[in-house]
Amino acid sequence: MLQTAQIQFNPQVGKPGRNHTTVSGLLAQSADARLVVLPELANSGYNFLNRDHALSLASPVEKSEYVGILVETAKKQNQYIVSGFHEKEEDKLFNTSLFISPKGRIWKYRKIHLFMNEKQIFTRGNLGLPVFELDEYKLGMLICFDYLFPEVWRIMALKGADMIAHPSNLVTYKAFKVVPAQAVINRFFIFTTNRIGAERDITFSGRTFAVDPEGEVIAEASVAKEEILFTEIDPMQARNKMLTIKNHVLDDRFPELYGDILK
Ligand code: ACM
Repeated sequence: MLQTAQIQFNPQVGKPGRNHTTVSGLLAQSADARLVVLPELANSGYNFLNRDHALSLASPVEKSEYVGILVETAKKQNQYIVSGFHEKEEDKLFNTSLFISPKGRIWKYRKIHLFMNEKQIFTRGNLGLPVFELDEYKLGMLICFDYLFPEVWRIMALKGADMIAHPSNLVTYKAFKVVPAQAVINRFFIFTTNRIGAERDITFSGRTFAVDPEGEVIAEASVAKEEILFTEIDPMQARNKMLTIKNHVLDDRFPELYGDILK
């Protein structure tokens, strides 16, 4: 069994110290979880005034105080932590999700499908769609708007992901239609951790949720409260890919007929 915690909170743009304090406190309350999932851009907030503003709030992973807090916590609490991270690499900015192991090792996914003004701020993710080892299981990561592109979910399933961590800054509830459907189609667990609060003209929609391989929402947070959503799952359920006794979600595909998708 795997204990998970999804941390829904209100990151503040331009207040890194405050975000660090908030996240430290919420992580301390999540010590019983083996996997913790925080929202997209949890260290920086989301709605930057422009690219220069975004640049002023970003840092490389190696120099980030925020990443230091995550690494120390993962070691101390013996857990895996997934968190959105505002990443600078030379003159480029990436909307990144970090995966940190209990030994303090750091892996990354960089958001591929950029939403609205993100296109003027971030470089499209250039690390592909990796899947990582989490104990005896496999975890993939997608970030917020990526969820509207079915191909990426399928690639994760084909790579053996048992669960997807999905740090988000959602502004609608469309994910409640799409994410459970992807859980059914691929028969894996999905942890969509959303944020709360508002930044200028954007209000974030809360309702962090977890979905099982049947597409059932097994836990759901409130619309607007800071909250930790705890769940216990058996990731081995995701290894059963049978939709019916005669239908396997991956083996029943006909990739030779799907070439048009590459156009
Ligand atoms: C989003 O991708 N943050 C909506």
